[in-house]
Amino acid sequence: MAASAAPSRLIAHPVRRLSGRVRAPGDKSVSHRALMLGAMALGETTITGLLTGEDVLRTAAAVRALGAQVVEQDDVWRVRGFGVGGGQEPADMLDLGNSGTSARLLAGILASHRFTSFMTGDGSLRRRPMQRVMEPLRRMGARFEAREGGRMPLAIVGTDEMVPIDYMLPVASAQVKSCILLAGLNAAGETTVIEPEATRDHTERMLRHFGAEVRVAPVEGGRGKRITVVGWPELKARDIAVPGDPSSAAFAVVAACVKPGSDLLVENVGVNPLRAGLYMTLKEMGADITFENEREVGGEPVADLHVRGAVLKGVDVPPDRAPTMIDEYPILAVAAACAEGTTRMLGLAELRTKESDRLSSVAAGLAANGVRHEMGADFLIVDGDGRAPSGGGLVKTHLDHRIAMSFLMLGVVSREPVAVDDGSPIDTSFPGFAALMNGLGARIESGS
Ligand code: S3P
Repeated sequence: MAASAAPSRLIAHPVRRLSGRVRAPGDKSVSHRALMLGAMALGETTITGLLTGEDVLRTAAAVRALGAQVVEQDDVWRVRGFGVGGGQEPADMLDLGNSGTSARLLAGILASHRFTSFMTGDGSLRRRPMQRVMEPLRRMGARFEAREGGRMPLAIVGTDEMVPIDYMLPVASAQVKSCILLAGLNAAGETTVIEPEATRDHTERMLRHFGAEVRVAPVEGGRGKRITVVGWPELKARDIAVPGDPSSAAFAVVAACVKPGSDLLVENVGVNPLRAGLYMTLKEMGADITFENEREVGGEPVADLHVRGAVLKGVDVPPDRAPTMIDEYPILAVAAACAEGTTRMLGLAELRTKESDRLSSVAAGLAANGVRHEMGADFLIVDGDGRAPSGGGLVKTHLDHRIAMSFLMLGVVSREPVAVDDGSPIDTSFPGFAALMNGLGARIESGS
């Protein structure tokens, strides 16, 4: 695995419009899960459309270290798994780079094996909270050593006698839910996660696809869902087609939305309702987006998104929508900066735990580019006047791919170019981002 690239400044120049037809890269969340479940299944799983971003390659390396065979030829990935609870002790520390999803989900798999394993990551991942997965996994019988504040590196002392639990999620997190469900695969009995607010359900969908029994029921007399996995299933190898990533498609979509004259088709975008909050919000803002050719790919709803430029207006984005668009607030802030009026985004506390403190990173980027805004502990308010923002700033990305890509798109739609100090994190989720955008009419270049 290549070490993360040296910091590289990128600069995006304003253009008049975006147009053309592209395919979004593979969905990052689905790609991680396909590799992990393929590794825990018996037989050979074939994956097409896998995202080859650094984060997913970290997961591939980790499941290899656990004993899965993972090979790629002509963009088809084949995973020969070790079966539930059948992984081997990794010979070395698992380095998960920038990838929170790898770290949180693998913690569930590692904790449910009778060996000790070690995980670390880059400067961003080592700052992110792991307590949220250690706490339920401790209840299930695993032990951990961590740095102050529950930070990585972690030592995980696993057990193959996991105790099934009923666990109410204290934060709306698909990573925590998935971690517990994956650990529950190697527990004798039924493990239940209670989710007050619905988060992305790729793990549940894919577990079923691999033959596990997963039951979902409303919480009686309460809010949310109970998600139960029955332990010790025999997961069987399957074929998986990974849909395009709605979070990656969002960058081109937003830039085209706010530039009248744009006409863009993004093909094969996952539109799972638990991921599609940004698209709903953009439509409320007056965006011209149509979902064409709606179909199912690999158990996930998919559509081609046809976008034409328009003048957007500010809206209120309610807090309960946050889990369905948690990764899209940085690019929504760009749309809001171009819209006429005020956009209020509420319920954003979780943004502070992402690859960077995303709320602060976004606010600082807006400030550097002359966008009027107000940030609070868990909200962001952005004022636009319906014209292109001034731009002209240099934005710090703090090892956060989505900050880098969002502010490059701000440069595409502003009056002056916008630079980011370090574009190298983009490869974690969207290799080829600049070339793809430039193919649609953007002008993103290496800056000095
Ligand atoms: C993800 C869940 C979200 C999201 C992340 C991917 C996943 O994180 O921000 O990019 O694949 O489950 P949280 O579970 O921390 O909200």
